[in-house]
Amino acid sequence: MTDLAQLELDLINAIGAAESVAAIEEVRVAALGKTGTISALLKGMGAMSPDERRVQGPLLNGLRDRVTQAIAARKAELEDAELDARLLAERIDLTLPSRPRRKGGVHPTMQVMDELIAIFADMGFAVAEGPDIEDDFHNFTALNFPPKHPAREMHDTFFLKPDAETGERKVLRTHTSPVQVRTMLSQKPPIRIVAPGRTFRKDSDATHTPMFHQIEGLVIDRDIHMGHLKSTLQTVVARFFELDDVKARFRPHHFPFTEPSAEMDIRCDRSGGRLALNEGDDWLEILGCGMVHPNVLKNCGIDPDEYQGFAFGMGVDRLAMLKYGVPDLRPMFEADTRWLAHYGFSAFVAPNPASGLS
Ligand code: PHE
Repeated sequence: MTDLAQLELDLINAIGAAESVAAIEEVRVAALGKTGTISALLKGMGAMSPDERRVQGPLLNGLRDRVTQAIAARKAELEDAELDARLLAERIDLTLPSRPRRKGGVHPTMQVMDELIAIFADMGFAVAEGPDIEDDFHNFTALNFPPKHPAREMHDTFFLKPDAETGERKVLRTHTSPVQVRTMLSQKPPIRIVAPGRTFRKDSDATHTPMFHQIEGLVIDRDIHMGHLKSTLQTVVARFFELDDVKARFRPHHFPFTEPSAEMDIRCDRSGGRLALNEGDDWLEILGCGMVHPNVLKNCGIDPDEYQGFAFGMGVDRLAMLKYGVPDLRPMFEADTRWLAHYGFSAFVAPNPASGLS
């Protein structure tokens, strides 16, 4: 074997044995760098006779080209392998499951609010809203609470600090009834609305919290009477509890803003520590209602000789407790995620009367 053939074999072996980009670079410098073996041979051509050069020239150039090519090929191979290894090491696994504690849920009060709104919307009621901070006029005066009337105290009202200029004391609304007033002042009859929202009273025990939720209803039109009130509420309550019909009574009551006024009770059985609706000989109070008082209509610019109406209000949190078996009211507002995980509803199933409410 000639010296050149031996050199080429050695170099090809060295190239094949190089295991990293750095190692192949060393081989390249040793052969083709300034002082490399092939470079030295090429330089030596200058001292050759023309005849010798004509023979050696193509041999040396061929050797240089083949070695250069082999080095480039091996280098590309090693670079690919290094990139693959890096991609594997730096990979982000996007398939990890999300953390279960991040799961959200719909609060039973909001679930029941949505259920009731769905039922009322189906019966042609629109949704109306009003502010949580009310003035005395909308919360009391327009609703026919006479000044200094004990009913104002009955509501255990939260008063805000008196206004520095006018001395007026705003209140946290004690019921959703001020939304009736706002609606009648801004719309002409016929009116058919429900007003869901937060309400506030100074009260706290197992069945009362200082903040709670009500949904109010108001219907104003010509020739409206108690029969409309009774059938509307019986239909709503039956649909809400998913019963064919509901055994109810309307018991006389007093509210300053309705005349006559009533509370609606449902037949129930409380024996054996459970509550069964439409059974037994007990009664469960469910809501307050009545025919809108003529004074309220007048206060809101509606002629009571031309228009009549009925109104009702119910406690949403209490209805949620009854329907979904929540035993104590207070934890409903403690924002304990364990409580919500147990009593909450999926956010992806909105109640609607066609596909089901609960
Ligand atoms: N506002 C009354 C309450 O909070 C409920 C009610 C509303 C009664 C409308 C009659 C008519 O107790």
